[in-house]
Amino acid sequence: MSQEMFQKERTLKMRERLIGQSCRLFFPQDPVKIVRARGQYLYDENGTQYLDCISNVHHVGHCHPLVTQAASAQMELLNANARFLHDNIVHYAERLAATLPKKLCIFYFVNSGSEANDLALRLARQYTRNEDVIVLDHAYHGHLTSLIDISPYKFRKLEGQKEWVHVAPLPDTYRGLYRRDHPNPGQAYADTVKDLIDEAQRKGRKISSFFVESLPSVGGQVILPSGYFPKVAEYVRAAGGVFVADEVQTGFGRVGSHFWAFQLQGEDFCPDIVTMGKPMGNGHPLSCVVTTEEIAGAFTANGVEYFNTFGGNPVSCAIGLAVLDVMEKEDLRGNAVRVGNHLKELLKQLQAKHPIIGDVRGVGLFVGLELVKDRVTLTPATEEAALLVGRLKMKHICLSTDGPWNSVIKFKPPMCFSLEDAERVSAEISHVLREETKFMLQTLKDLI
Ligand SMILES: Cc1ncc(COP(=O)(O)O)c(C=O)c1O
Repeated sequence: MSQEMFQKERTLKMRERLIGQSCRLFFPQDPVKIVRARGQYLYDENGTQYLDCISNVHHVGHCHPLVTQAASAQMELLNANARFLHDNIVHYAERLAATLPKKLCIFYFVNSGSEANDLALRLARQYTRNEDVIVLDHAYHGHLTSLIDISPYKFRKLEGQKEWVHVAPLPDTYRGLYRRDHPNPGQAYADTVKDLIDEAQRKGRKISSFFVESLPSVGGQVILPSGYFPKVAEYVRAAGGVFVADEVQTGFGRVGSHFWAFQLQGEDFCPDIVTMGKPMGNGHPLSCVVTTEEIAGAFTANGVEYFNTFGGNPVSCAIGLAVLDVMEKEDLRGNAVRVGNHLKELLKQLQAKHPIIGDVRGVGLFVGLELVKDRVTLTPATEEAALLVGRLKMKHICLSTDGPWNSVIKFKPPMCFSLEDAERVSAEISHVLREETKFMLQTLKDLI
C-alpha cells in the first residue's frame, strides 16, 4: 500500500501554496519526502533508505515500538486534563528527579522547548524581581517573542537587541576570544560575563538570569571550557540573578557520560533552572522546566495559577516514561559513548588527511566537524560545508550545518546510531573529500 496521499510533486506544490514560506524544508532545491522511519533510518516514497544523522528529537529511534505502544495504550485508556489527579505525571516527575541534583525538584510540564524557556524566564523574573538577561552570542532559545529577544541568532536579523538583553562572547575555544592554548579559558570567558554584569549595573540595570545551552548547538556544536559554568554562576548569583541551563537539545544522555550536559562542568555544579524538550517525547510534544523549591515558591506566591492545557497530560507522561525505559533497557547512554568516540576518532583520521577539516569536537553523540578554508585564518568554509551536505544527501545520508557561518557539520543522530553507521558516514565523507578539487569546483546549485 502506498504510504503517500499525494505524489511528491503535488505535495511540494501544495506546500508552496498552503504553508508559510518561512517554514523551510531540509534540502530546499530537492526536498526529501519521508513516509516512514525506524530507528536511525528514514524511508522516502520509493522505499529508499536514508541514514539519519540529525534527528536528535527521535532520541531512542524513530517510531520505537515501546514508545508507540505506551502512547497508544494510554490513549485508549485516558487522556484527561492535567487538573485531574493522575499517577503518570507524578511518577514521571519522580523518575526525572532521580537524574537531577536534589536541589532541582519542582517540575512544570509544557509542550515545547520554547514554552519551557518562556516559563523559565517568568520564573527567573518573578524570583529575582529583576528583568535583564545575559545570553551567549549566536544562541537560540526558541521561537516565542520573549525568546527571539534573548536569541542573538534571531534578533540580529530582526529589530536587534533590547536594552534588557546582554550578549556575552561565545566560549568557543577553537575560534573564539580565548583558545585552546590559553591557560584557563573557562575563567577567562567567565570574566567576560562578569565584565558584562559590571557594565549593566553601572547603567542601573538588574540581572534576572543567565540563559545558556549546556553545549551551544546553533552556535556551532561548541564544547564549553571546564570551570566556565561554576564561575559564571557565582558571578550571576552575586548580581542577584539565577542560572538557567537550556538542555532542550543536550539533555537525556546525549553526551553519554552524563544524563545532563551541564554535569560535564562538574558533579557539584547545579543550575537554578533547567529547561528540557526535544528528546523527551521522542517526537511527541513534551517538555519541562525544573527548578528549586525557592524559585517555585516565589512563582506560587504571586497568587496566579499556572495552567497549561496539554502540559503533563497522561499520554505525554506515558511516552516520557517509555523513553526513559528504552534508554535504560538499551543502554543508549553507553551507546552514545562508544559510537560517539568511534565517530570522533574516524573524523580525526580524516582531519589528518584533509586540510579543510579544521576541527573535530564533541561529546557522546553531539559531534561537530568544522570546515575552514585555511587552518591559520580559520576562514569558514561555508559553501564547501553546504556542498558536502548536498553530496552526502545524494549518498542517502542526512546531515546539516550549524554555527554562525553554517560551516560546522553537525551530528546529532538518534541515540541508537551504530558503529557501522559511524563508519559508513565517515567513509562517505572521506570519499567526497578525496575528490576535493572536483568537489570545490562544483557549483552549489547542481549539488543540492
Ligand atoms: C537550545 C534550544 N532551545 C529551545 C528551542 C526551542 O524548542 P522548540 O522548537 O521545541 O520550541 C530549541 C529549538 O531548536 C533549541 O535548539
